[in-house]
Amino acid sequence: MSLIIKLSKINKVYKTGEISFLALKNINLEVKKGEFIAIIGASGSGKSTLMNIIGLLDHPTSGTYILDGQDSSDFGEDYLAKIRNEKIGFVFQSFNLLARTSAWDNVALPLIYAGISRSQRLQRAREVLERVGLGDKLESHPNQLSGGQQQKVAIARALVNNPELILADEPTGNLDSKSGGEIMNLFEKLSSEGKTIIMITHEATIARHAKRVIRLKDGGIQWRQ
Ligand SMILES: Nc1ncnc2c1ncn2[C@@H]1O[C@H](COP(=O)(O)OP(=O)(O)OP(=O)(O)O)[C@@H](O)[C@H]1O
Ligand SMILES: [Mg+2]
Repeated sequence: MSLIIKLSKINKVYKTGEISFLALKNINLEVKKGEFIAIIGASGSGKSTLMNIIGLLDHPTSGTYILDGQDSSDFGEDYLAKIRNEKIGFVFQSFNLLARTSAWDNVALPLIYAGISRSQRLQRAREVLERVGLGDKLESHPNQLSGGQQQKVAIARALVNNPELILADEPTGNLDSKSGGEIMNLFEKLSSEGKTIIMITHEATIARHAKRVIRLKDGGIQWRQ
């Protein structure tokens, strides 16, 4: 199977004033298309930093990142935005939903940049909201939804563009075990449809749904399965 991600000797240094902090150390990682991977590790071990680099939201300080055969250091800002929008679905640690906007419009939003008509955007958004079990909450605003439901809206928004790569930072962090299990069933189904999924979690029961687990420690890969 072909590689979707190849990270070689990735380092990330955060500079705050005079102080430099090495948040990622010599990360080498290959991900094949269709893999379902869990990233685990203590708070501060570099999980979100790694995810942001994989998601093209941040640049590594050194090392190379090949995404789908292309060296990401060659991408200009416009191309980065295009790839992020078309290829990658993000579920953030905080949901990043628009507060004064219905679940339906929150989910339909990424499709605006794809140049799809409003009626088609709403149709597609309805389908994914139904898929995550929120077909009866289309008109609800985030503050009218539980934490778990907001998380599901964020997941629906990540899926609405039908991305090849799904990146999820603690996608079940705010869910009870039943809702968490529903999301994992959905991820397993997406994985069986050929999507590549990389998910950060601190829960062993959630990590178990992935086919492969990578553990970070102090910015390095401590072990991998
Ligand atoms: N913008 C930043 N500037 C400076 N240091 C940062 C920045 N972002 C993260 N760090 C530091 O880098 C390290 C890794 O942070 P990161 O957010 O990747 O951890 P994490 O594994 O996702 O933790 P958590 O499980 O708490 O989300 C931490 O020590 C953090 O303080
Ligand atoms: Mg994090």
